[in-house]
Amino acid sequence: MITIPKNIQELVSYKPGKPVSQIIEELDLKESAILWNNENNLGPSPKVLEHVQSVLVTSHKYPDPTSHELCERIAALNNCTAENVTVDNGSESVFDCVFRAFFEKDNELLTCDGTFVAVYIWAKSNKVEVARIPLARGYQFDVDRLVQSVTPQTKAIYVANPNNPTGAMISQGELDHLVESVPDDVLIIVDEAYYEYARAITDDYPDSFAMRKSNVLTLRTFSKAYGIAGIRVGYALGDPRLIEALRKVKMTFAPSNLAQAAAIGALDDPDHMHKSVMLNKSALQQFYTALHDAELKYIPSYGNFVMIDLGTEDLAKAFTENMLKKGVFIRHLRAFGLPNCVRISTGTSEENELFTRKLLGT
Ligand SMILES: Cc1ncc(COP(=O)(O)O)c(C=O)c1O
Repeated sequence: MITIPKNIQELVSYKPGKPVSQIIEELDLKESAILWNNENNLGPSPKVLEHVQSVLVTSHKYPDPTSHELCERIAALNNCTAENVTVDNGSESVFDCVFRAFFEKDNELLTCDGTFVAVYIWAKSNKVEVARIPLARGYQFDVDRLVQSVTPQTKAIYVANPNNPTGAMISQGELDHLVESVPDDVLIIVDEAYYEYARAITDDYPDSFAMRKSNVLTLRTFSKAYGIAGIRVGYALGDPRLIEALRKVKMTFAPSNLAQAAAIGALDDPDHMHKSVMLNKSALQQFYTALHDAELKYIPSYGNFVMIDLGTEDLAKAFTENMLKKGVFIRHLRAFGLPNCVRISTGTSEENELFTRKLLGT
């Protein structure tokens, strides 16, 4: 019998719930809003569709393994060169590469509780121990405590800014403090999956790549504001030494030529991205007003979602089920280690309106 390593045995494989269409049918929902995955419900730009269409005919060819054109385009946006960029099948794939590229036996990852769950999964599947500290008050990363928690085993620190699922942001001052306080042989991974949304919400959002530190690796994605989560393109920005190491361990032909074309199409339509982040900004205000009127506690967000603290796990579960019965699909955050909380993503104007109407019973 083949032995399955303990770290893999202990992982729980992704168990998708029932398909959305089945739930809609079973509950006989006349209207619905799918707001549980932090997607951009405006969908992809028409330019994405055009670009993908134009490369379909070359589907028999392997993709450019260096994603040269896409890396150049990302570099131009970030005032750097393509040597500072590597792209992959979503930023989650880049993160997986981080473990293979930088971690050695007994190295640990340091992060907080209550962050993006994939981090714990990829660490475990790469046999890397994760040292976790609690979130600070306000559900944000506790930078002081992270700094104090660095040990000789700490190879890297992971922070999501803003954090998913809490939506909280760390400031430029806190990021500076983190970078200045830890030894420069500790890698600081700053996951900026919601970068475009956060920048539209506040001028104070810190761009970790702009700090140009040799031990800071910035992760970004086309899955959120650019609206192509299903196509899977994410990237890392950082010092060429770090980027080169990541390129060595990535799957040779990732991402696919359709994905590279889609991302270039998305970059060709900055107006669509702008429209998406502005819609999100107004949706957040709409949600805050409704949540305030419903006397619910929420955490101000710098992403395309809001976390609501219901106070107890039972109330959070009941709120999630109640919303589902009304056609609004939201996420109960038990699996994120925040059982008293739920998360709702913003959607289209109609979807946002459906949520506020159902919340307030109007
Ligand atoms: C903080 C964070 N990082 C990364 C991702 C995943 O990004 P990608 O689709 O590029 O793998 C998500 C998706 O929800 C996220 O919330």
